[in-house]
Amino acid sequence: MALVARTNGLGYHGRMKRLIFLAAFFGLFLTADDRDEAERERMVHDQIEARGIARPDVLRVLHSTPRHLFVPTLQQAQAYQDRALPIGFGQTISQPYIVALMTELLEPSKRHKVLEIGTGSGYQAAVLAALSGHVFTIEIVPELSVSAGVVLKRLGVRNVTLRSGDGYEGWPEEAPFDRIILTAAPRKIPSALLSQLRPGGKLVAPVGNSAFAQDLTIVDKMADGRIKKRSVMPVTFVPMVRKKH
Ligand SMILES: C[S@@+](CC[C@H](N)C(=O)[O-])C[C@H]1O[C@@H](n2cnc3c(N)ncnc32)[C@H](O)[C@@H]1O
Repeated sequence: MALVARTNGLGYHGRMKRLIFLAAFFGLFLTADDRDEAERERMVHDQIEARGIARPDVLRVLHSTPRHLFVPTLQQAQAYQDRALPIGFGQTISQPYIVALMTELLEPSKRHKVLEIGTGSGYQAAVLAALSGHVFTIEIVPELSVSAGVVLKRLGVRNVTLRSGDGYEGWPEEAPFDRIILTAAPRKIPSALLSQLRPGGKLVAPVGNSAFAQDLTIVDKMADGRIKKRSVMPVTFVPMVRKKH
């Protein structure tokens, strides 16, 4: 009671000063790791769970993957914001929610061999690596493939194999894949990728002509090889480009 009376006695400005002092004081005892961890917790709660992503293993991996290490130093303070960020070469790391949504839609399991088209920063590959058996990932910009490889190695991720090349061709030597994810948008799903998907497998991709809105599409390949497609929602991805010969 006495404390309440004294606190009240400080007046509004006095109370605010005390609050700011306490926040700054305790902030000094938080390490950078604690702050990143707290930001990830907020990101998962406010951006991902709040929009309906519920698979516990997806939430756990988004919580434990240090997204700030996958973006350029200048972008690190924004790494946990609710948006895509530039990673150089005119490319982006996708918004955290979209990474979580595509991962959930892909339904990865530890038995699965996964193909990703569009390594970019390597963040989506790191998330999938934690939830599947092995990830093969192709990036058309060689410099991005190299820097993604460096970050994945630094984090001790061993079950990702990177290749610099054109994702339109897929990775025939490693096919068939249980899961295929495209993180750049083709006008239509490349036939090489459909043929490299195992019967019973699933592919998730943004598909469409427009540079501003594509359809996030799920493709199921039936046991008899038939293809079933459905659109989930409009999304905006960078286009899947063709390698110049
Ligand atoms: C939205 S970014 C990928 C985000 C990435 N998955 C991440 O976690 O940072 C799309 C990437 O696809 C790459 N890309 C575009 N066309 C491609 C192609 N034909 N083959 C492989 N990669 C391609 C781009 O260079 C870019 O890095």
